[in-house]
Amino acid sequence: MTNFDYRDGELFCEDVSVADLAEQYGTPLWVYSKAFLLGQLRQIQIAFAEVDPVICYSVKANSTLGVLKVMHEAGSSFDVVSGGELYRVKASGADTSKVVFAGVGKTDDEIRFALENDILMFDVESEAELDAIAAVAGSMGKIGRVALRLNPDIDAKTHAKTTTGKKGNKFGMDIERFRELAAKVLRDKRLALKGIHMHLGSPILTTDPYEAAGAKAIEVVEALRRDGHDINWINLGGGFGISYRENEGLPASEYAKVIVPAVKAAKCRLALEPGRFIVGNSCVLISRVVYTKREGGKLFVIQDGAMNDLIRPAMYDSFHRVWPVKPAVAMPSNVEGEIAGCEKTDVVGPVCESSDYFAKDRYLPPMQRGDLMAIFSAGAYGTAMSSNYNSRPRATELLVDGTTVKVIRRRETYADLVAHELDV
Ligand code: LLP
Repeated sequence: MTNFDYRDGELFCEDVSVADLAEQYGTPLWVYSKAFLLGQLRQIQIAFAEVDPVICYSVKANSTLGVLKVMHEAGSSFDVVSGGELYRVKASGADTSKVVFAGVGKTDDEIRFALENDILMFDVESEAELDAIAAVAGSMGKIGRVALRLNPDIDAKTHAKTTTGKKGNKFGMDIERFRELAAKVLRDKRLALKGIHMHLGSPILTTDPYEAAGAKAIEVVEALRRDGHDINWINLGGGFGISYRENEGLPASEYAKVIVPAVKAAKCRLALEPGRFIVGNSCVLISRVVYTKREGGKLFVIQDGAMNDLIRPAMYDSFHRVWPVKPAVAMPSNVEGEIAGCEKTDVVGPVCESSDYFAKDRYLPPMQRGDLMAIFSAGAYGTAMSSNYNSRPRATELLVDGTTVKVIRRRETYADLVAHELDV
């Protein structure tokens, strides 16, 4: 259930016609379902309720204030990776006392900003960073609460560009350094070791990597307690996969089945940093067909949406389901392979790059100039990674709640594009 479905041959988001929204607000257009966002968060809250987790929605997946506000009003906290993200959390009206701060390159200014806002803890990725947190905390007369990020050397079988828990990538530290740094924290009055952090990669569509990480966490927590540490947090990061194609995503309860027992065995509190699972399928990107073109034996359907809006296909060869808003052929559950009444099509944008596409060699119903196309599963790493490439203004974002529609980000104007540049 994604709260996006076809009724009488046209796409609806909750109880609103997507075509009507495109008419009123123009395209490209991001349309979110509030009910879906809340449902996904709720699913995690219920699945892990037994261990009373702190759910830190991962701001990097979608940092639009309107989304953050829905999250904190429903009881979520946040995982941030920059001062800018922490600023957004504050601007959304959320309190920062349960915020976790990850990332390999936190600057002194960012550390200070986080300490001023009394965040729950830093996920520390190196000795140099630990030293910086100690120095900044010391200068402020504060204590830096930290979790050390373990690189568990687990292959989560994600895209090469999104794997993070394998030896040889820039994230976290191995177990020897972990114990060394834990000992260092114990000797430093400016720091307090609170827990262990791991993030395995994204998206992960099996529970095995979490089971392995849970076992590793128990082992590390027990060893650290023997070394005299009062450690009581396990943060297993994010990474829960979603259905981009058909029904490949797992419910949160499946992940909970392997994570909850480990957290209980370690007698720890649990923090999680889900991003994609919550926002991924909460949003469709709507674009309009500008032209169709047959060339070199191929059919191209050229949209007014582009890689500057949604870069995932260009960057990771990601699969996004695409289908017309008012299709001549009903969308089948499996959109891969040949479909009756459809033709092999490349869905592309206007940006001057061959990698500017949403779908390649996909069987799609006939489309013509002016028709609307829906690009599904666009909520995670869509707007958050969008840019002004080719000097294209960023698009409007709408939050739908039943029959109510709220503009949570207005379309940028040409004047916005040059607003930050010096007088020339
Ligand atoms: N925690 C940490 C430390 C992370 O590095 C990430 C994602 C998350 C949590 C959230 O992961 P999620 O639950 O959303 O899977 N741009 C790529 C994904 C990059 C993920 C980066 N880290 C994409 O579009 O697929």
